Parts: sequence; C-alpha cells; structure tokens
Amino acid sequence: MTVFKLPSPNASFMCLHFFVFLLRASAVVATSSKELQSLLNLKSAVQNSNPSLFASWVSTRSVCNFNGVTCNSDNSVIGIELSNRGLTGTLPFDSICQLQSLQRLSLGFNSLSGTVSADLDNCTKLQYLDLGNNNFNGSFPDISSLKNLKYMYLNMSGFTGTFPWNSLKTMTSLLVLSVGDNQFDITPFPHEILGLDNLNWLYMSNCSISGSIPPEIGNLTELIDLELADNYLTGKIPAEISRLKNLWQLELYDNNLNGTIPAGFGNLTKLQLFDASNNSLGGDLSELRFLTELQSLHLHNNGLSGRVPAEFGEFKNLVDLSLYSNNLTGSLPQKLGSWTEFIYIDVSTNNLYGPIPPDMCKRGTMEKLLILQNKFSGEIPATYANCRTLTRFRVSQNSLSGVVPSGIWGLPNVDVIEISENELEGPITSDIANAKSLTELRARENNLSGDLPPEISNASSLGTIDLTGNQFSGDIPENIGELGQLSNLHLERNWLSGNIPDSLSSCLHLSDLSLAYNSLSGKIPDSLGSLPSLNYLNLSNNQLSGQIPATLSSLRLSLLDLSYNRLTGPVPESLSIEAYNGSFVGNNGLCSSNVTYLRPCSSHSRDVRTFIISFVVGFAVLVALTAFYMFFKRRDQKDDGHSLKGDYSWDMKSYHVLSFTEDEILDSIKQENLIGKGGSGNVYKVSLKDGKELAVKHIWNIGPTNSSRSQPGTPMLSKLDSSRCREFDSEVRTLSSLRHVNVIKLYCSITSEDSSLLVYEYLPNGSLWDRLHSGNKLGLHWQTRFEIALGAARGLEYLHHGCGRPVIHRDIKSSNILLDEFLKPRIADFGLAKIIQASGGRDSTCVIAGTHGYIAPEYGYTSRVNEKSDVYSFGVVLMELVSGKRAIELEFGDSRDIVSWVFGKLKNKESVVSIVDVIIPEPLKDEAIKVLKIAILCTARLPELRPTMKTVVQMLEDADPSKLVSIVVAENGSD
Ligand SMILES: *[C@@H]1O[C@H](CO)[C@@H](O)[C@H](O)[C@H]1NC(C)=O
Ligand SMILES: *[C@@H]1O[C@H](CO)[C@@H](O)[C@H](O)[C@H]1NC(C)=O
Ligand SMILES: *[C@@H]1O[C@H](CO)[C@@H](O)[C@H](O)[C@H]1NC(C)=O
Repeated sequence: MTVFKLPSPNASFMCLHFFVFLLRASAVVATSSKELQSLLNLKSAVQNSNPSLFASWVSTRSVCNFNGVTCNSDNSVIGIELSNRGLTGTLPFDSICQLQSLQRLSLGFNSLSGTVSADLDNCTKLQYLDLGNNNFNGSFPDISSLKNLKYMYLNMSGFTGTFPWNSLKTMTSLLVLSVGDNQFDITPFPHEILGLDNLNWLYMSNCSISGSIPPEIGNLTELIDLELADNYLTGKIPAEISRLKNLWQLELYDNNLNGTIPAGFGNLTKLQLFDASNNSLGGDLSELRFLTELQSLHLHNNGLSGRVPAEFGEFKNLVDLSLYSNNLTGSLPQKLGSWTEFIYIDVSTNNLYGPIPPDMCKRGTMEKLLILQNKFSGEIPATYANCRTLTRFRVSQNSLSGVVPSGIWGLPNVDVIEISENELEGPITSDIANAKSLTELRARENNLSGDLPPEISNASSLGTIDLTGNQFSGDIPENIGELGQLSNLHLERNWLSGNIPDSLSSCLHLSDLSLAYNSLSGKIPDSLGSLPSLNYLNLSNNQLSGQIPATLSSLRLSLLDLSYNRLTGPVPESLSIEAYNGSFVGNNGLCSSNVTYLRPCSSHSRDVRTFIISFVVGFAVLVALTAFYMFFKRRDQKDDGHSLKGDYSWDMKSYHVLSFTEDEILDSIKQENLIGKGGSGNVYKVSLKDGKELAVKHIWNIGPTNSSRSQPGTPMLSKLDSSRCREFDSEVRTLSSLRHVNVIKLYCSITSEDSSLLVYEYLPNGSLWDRLHSGNKLGLHWQTRFEIALGAARGLEYLHHGCGRPVIHRDIKSSNILLDEFLKPRIADFGLAKIIQASGGRDSTCVIAGTHGYIAPEYGYTSRVNEKSDVYSFGVVLMELVSGKRAIELEFGDSRDIVSWVFGKLKNKESVVSIVDVIIPEPLKDEAIKVLKIAILCTARLPELRPTMKTVVQMLEDADPSKLVSIVVAENGSD
C-alpha cells in the first residue's frame, strides 16, 4: 500500500511515480480503476461540511490511500469507515457494491437519507454493516445474499414497513443484530432470529414487536445483551430465559408483560443491568436474591409484592434501585448501599415499613433518596445530614418521627426537601442559610416548632415554602422579602404572631400567600396590593385589625379570604363582588352596602379621613377629566385642519405594491372622512381615484396624560420608552410581513415625528362585534357565523404557527375581527395601538391588558402569556357567535363573564341548548353546540389544557355543517 504514498507535493515527481506504478502493476490498476470510480461516485453522492474529509479522494491517488478506506494485500478495497462524519445525501449502493471485496461498511451516526436500494444485496462479502443512526426512509431491502454478516447495525435509521426477517435465516455467523428504534409495521417476534446461535447482542427495543417472547429465546445462549424494551410484548417472561447464562444486560421495560419473574431467573448470575419497569409483573423479588452482580435494577410500576430480599444489602455493585409503585412490603435491608458508591433509590408508593437504611450515603455519592408514601418509621438517620451530594430528599407521607437532623436543612446541593405528613419535630435550624440550591421546602403536617429562622432568607433559590399544620411560633422573619424567587408561601395552621411583614411586597413572584389560622395581628400591609402576581390570598382566622387596604382592589385574586379577623371600616367597592362572597365573614367592624351579611356603611360613621380621601380622589378625577377633554379638543382641532400635508415631513414605508401616493393619503385625513374614534387615534376612510377604498388609522404619538410633547426632529420611535417598548418597531414589521387572507392587510405606514398613519385595506362590513351586537344580526345565519369562526381561526393559526416566529395577538375579540364585503373575516388591530397608548401613558409599560371578558385567567398571575392566551380569547369569540351574547352582559351578574355563564349551564342538555342564540333555528342548534364544545375546550382554565389553534382549525373543519350537507347528499344520491 506504500506504493501510492506520495513522498512530496512535487507534481512532476508525482506523475513519474504514478507512471512507474502503472507499468509495474497494470493488472491491479484495472480493478483499481473500477473501484476508483465507485468510490468517486460515493464521494459525489454524499456531502459533508468538513472539506478535509474527502480531500484525499482524488483520481490521482490510489483508492487505498483514500481517507477512511482500507485495502487488503491485493490492493482491493475491503473497508469504508466513515461513521459520525456529518454526511448527508443518498448512498449509491449500486456503486458501493461494485467493490467486490468489501467486508466492512461503516456509515453510522450520519444524516444520510433516501432509501437503501436493493443493490445492497450485491455486497456479498460484507461482514460488518453499520447504517444505524441515520435518516433513511422506506423499508429495508432483502439482503439474503449477505451470508457472511457478523455485525448489523440498523437501529434508529428511519426505516418503516416490514423488515426482511427472512434474510436473517442464512446469517448464521451473526453476532450483533441491532434493528431497534425503527417504526416497522407491527409484527410478532420474528422466529428467524431464534436460529442465530452465535448472537451476542440483540437490540430490538422500540421496533413494534407484539405478542409473547418465544421460549426458544433460551436457545440463544451466547447472548450477553438482550433488549426488547418499548414494544407491544404480552404474556410471561419465558422461564427458558434462565438459560442465557452469559446475559449481562436485560431490558424489557415499557411492554405489557405479566406473570412473575420466572423460576430459575436467579441463574443469570452475570446480570448487571435489569429493567422490566412499566409492565404488569406480579409475584415477588425472591429470584433476584442470587444476582449479586446487579448494578442497576428497575422494576417500578408493576404489581410486585413481597419483601425486598435482604441479600440486596450485601450486593457489592448495586448503585441504582428503582422499585416505586408496587406492593412491596417489609423493611429495606439495613445495609443497603453501604458497600457501593450508591447513587439513587426510589421505593416510593409501596407498603414498606421500618427504619430508613442509614448507610446509603456512606461513600458520599447518593444523589436522590425517594421513599414517599410508605410506612417508614423511626428517625431520619443523622448520617444524611452530611450527604452533600444529595439533590432530592423526599420522604413525605410516612411515619417518621424525632427531630430532623440539623444539617439536613443546610445540604448544599439539595433542590427539594420534602418531609410532609410525618411526625417530625424540632426547629428549622439556621443551617438553612447553606441550602443555596433549595427550591422547594415542603414540610406540612408535622410537629415542627420554634421560630422561623431569619437565615431562611439566605436560601435564595426558594420558590415554595409549605409549612402548613405545624407548631411554628414567633414572628414571620421580616427579611423573608429577600427571597426573590418565592412564589408559594403557605404557613397556615401554626402559632405565628406579630405583624405580616411589609417586606413580602418585595417577593415579586409571589402568587400564593396563605397565613390563615395563626395569631397574626396588626394591619394588612398596604404593600400587598402591589404584588403583581398574587393570585391567592388567605389571611383568615387571625387577629388582623384596621381597614382593608384599598390597594387590594388592584389585584386579580382567584381567592381572597379575610374572614374571622378584627377588620373594621368599609369593604372597598371593587372587592364587594360575588366572587369574594364570604371573604369578609366574622369581622364585626366591617361595613358595606353591597355585601349582604355586613351592616351598611352609614354616612355618620364615616370618619373624617375617609371624607378627605374621597374629596382628594374626586378632585383628581376632575383634573384628569379636564386634561382629557383638553387633549381631545386639541386633537379634533388639529384634524379639522384641511390637510396634514406640509405640517411635518413624512416618511412612508410600503409593504405591498401600492396604487396610491403618500400625498393622496395625507390629503384625505380630514374631518369629513372620519369614520371612527378609538382610544389611540382616529380612523378615516379614504376613497382613491381608481375607486379603491382604504382605511387609515391616524395614531397620535402622545397620550392624554403625557406632559412633555415631543420635540420637533425627534424620531417618533425614540420617544417611546426605548428600553421597554422596542416591540413597537418589530410589531409594525411583523404586521407588515403577514400574508394571509384572514389577516388584515397593512399596505404601508407613514410616520412623522408627531403621529403615524397606518394604511389598511378597507372592510365595509365593520367588525363582528358590530354585526352581532348592534341589532343587525339578520345576515348572520349559522353557516355564515361558522365560516367567520373558521376563517378567524385560520387567521389566528397562521399567526401562531404559519409565519416563522409566533405572533401573539394579545387582544382577540369580536371587535377586532373585521368583515369584508362577503362577510369573510380578517384579524385586525395587533395590539399595536395598545402598545403606543401604554407607552404614552403614565407608567410607560408595554404590558397589554387585553379586554375585559376576553382575558385568559393566567394574565392575572403570570407574565408568561403565550399563544394559549389567544386561544382563550378566541374561545370567547366562539361563545359570542354561538350565543349571540356579548362577552360581558348584565344578565351574567356581577363579575361574571360569558365563560362562567356558559360553564354554569353545562349541567344538562336542556340548559346547554338554552345557550344557543334564539334566532338560530332548531335543526341547526346541534351544529352550534359542536362549536360550543370547541369553545369550551379553548377556555379551559389551565393554558396547557387548551388546544393549539392548529387543532382548533381541525376541529372546526370536522364540525363544518356544509360538509355534513354534502355527505348527506352523497349518501342519498347513491340510493
Ligand atoms: C445486483 O444484483 C442484481 C441481481 O441480483 C443485478 O441485476 C444487478 O445488476 C446487480 N447490481 C450491480 C450493481 O451489480
Ligand atoms: C430450542 O428451544 C426449544 C424450546 O426451548 C427446544 O425445544 C429446542 O430443542 C431448542 N433447539 C435447539 C436447537 O437447541
Ligand atoms: C397475561 O396476559 C395474557 C395476554 O395478554 C392474558 O391472556 C393472560 O390472561 C394474562 N395473565 C394474567 C395472569 O393476567
């Protein structure tokens, strides 16, 4: 092979050298040129990003010097080794199999695609074939001629259809068969495999094998690894499996196997890794007591009973034991884990009892200890207090007692401490300052006591603290406000006293706060009203006094409970709503004219302070109204001017081919063309010379309460709070790039330093809200309503899934769905005006509130608003279409909207039918109810439970009444 080695890059020498070789070995060259051609074909068929890989694959060289190619002593190619080289493309097997001596073809771990052609069957000398971990498609061809194969790796390669199991019959030398992780057609266990006496390694996980494991598997006595996990296997594990004495790994998890771990299984004494979790195995673990080499044993989620063999305590290699969700009983071997660098144990949800084995962290390696929901008793072993590697310590719902070892609270890597529902005692010690990784501290329903240590504020990752139902006393530490990640604080049913710390208002993520059933006194801090995420506030059954802070009105609480305290004075108006009915019981000093069980607030009892506050508030409102009036007056005066042209310099950006000019638009912005006024600007209808009509939104770049006017020459966008409102720019860009028949078309934007014009297509039929709720419902037959629903759904689907980065509308409502001359819908008003309005406003935030009645519940307590919030709002629109009612109606009652009204009517068919608009005729009511069902899915309280808009569109298409008609017609026609 050295003949071809090039001693120098000198070209003439190269040629000479080559020439000499040609003379000497012309016979070899003949085969070589054929091999050269087939390798060059291979090279040109595949691509990769590394230029040096094929640099040596040139016709001036011997194929034996090609990178990745090996030859035999006759200079014939016998091996191609190009695995894991980032190759793409389709393999030319017709060329590859021209290499008549090829024994080894190694192309695994690439991104090769296309089909594997039947020409592969011509590579008859192959002993080693690795095409695994690629992206092929189609079925794998018959390869019966490859009788010499010893190694066959085809796992995870995208193959489908039927595998040519028959080909295996002749491959009696096969040592490795790896075909798992391909979506083959479901097939019973292929019996062809059972004749492969020499097989060492059989990997057939996740490749659609059904039925039972045949007893003949016991004939494959050379197996060291048998993997049949994640198939559709049923029946028993055959007892013959015990003949596989060399077995080192056995993977049977995620099947439907039943029966027991068979007698004789204990003969598999070399077994180190055994996983049969997620099956329906019964019986006990006694056979496993002989498997002294076990390192990892997973049998969770079965029906296993009996005891954990005491012998496990003597196993010298066991580091990983997962037996949760069975019916195991008895105690754990006390020496469990003491011999090894033990890592993981989960025996949760069994009937185990007795003490926790003390030595599982003896070597300082244990990471997870999970023994939840058993009957373990005794103390938490002191040894765990030193287990610095521990990340999960979860021992809830047992009968553990005694004092929690102090060091447990301060384990440096522990992420979850969960000791709830035991009989544990003692304080949380100041060690907790060291628990820098702790995110969840759950210790409810124990007998823990003492003061809450101020050092808890050093456990800075804490998100959840649940100490409900203990005997903690003293004050809530003032510095608890330093826990910046805190979202859930449950301290109910303790003996805490003192004030509610004002500092809690620093916990900006706090969503649940329950301090009920303690002895807290003093006032409810005003600052609680500033917690942006607070959703659940329970302060009941304390001794809180003073007035209910008016600031609480600004929260959107799903639960407010202030009952059984000593609160006095009036209940703030906005809190006296039905949702909080019962929130104020047991406070004799409270009054309200709306809450029936409280005495009315008579004007005599109003103290002077209240009077002064009312006066100040009233005055402020008056000032604001005056300012508002002045602003609109100024704006209207401006609009009365004949034309905007010439006032400022305008900058036009177009997003479609335009048939009009900037001047034409500017000339038309005048009073006589005004067709609407919105919060952020006026809308004008512009009729072009060619008869085309446009809608132009004129947005003032200054909010009513903004005091400083923009300076001439300042670009408009820089005036917006640039750090927080960068969205404006991208929002215009997004809208301008959208192209969908159900999304309003933005032709162009024309901006000056003072205002901005957005030029849209004009939609003569106004908004869906106008059509539905302003009397003119007559054109809206059910079929029309359905088509509006489907069109709007498609528009929204496009926004969410169809245009690259998902666009979240944030303000879907019937008044933002506009209708063209054929009543086809367009989604409009991309919250754009809202952003501008908010930035011009007092607090300059870009948070878009949406519209009451359409707002998904999660807006109240999380900033993670996503597409699913639009889905909720869309569900509300569907309810409007079905019922003909508005999102908020007086008849729904105080604080109730269409969603709660609909959900309240889901009791029986009769009351469901009563939801449907009375003008929809009887035969179509069932069609409307189909859409109502979709609306109900869309308005699920939890965002995760709502369908995506893709699914909504599919569901609506399935519910299409016109489709129904055509099916009926077709069926009648065939009669
Ligand atoms: C492969 O073998 C088949 C017959 O089995 C033959 O028709 C075909 O031409 C062969 N392909 C090559 C590239 O030799
Ligand atoms: C294979 O196994 C079956 C059943 O376990 C047995 O009857 C048969 O004799 C075995 N065949 C060989 C060749 O060992
Ligand atoms: C085990 O599964 C098989 C096949 O699914 C079934 O016929 C048999 O009754 C099951 N046996 C037990 C004990 O559940």
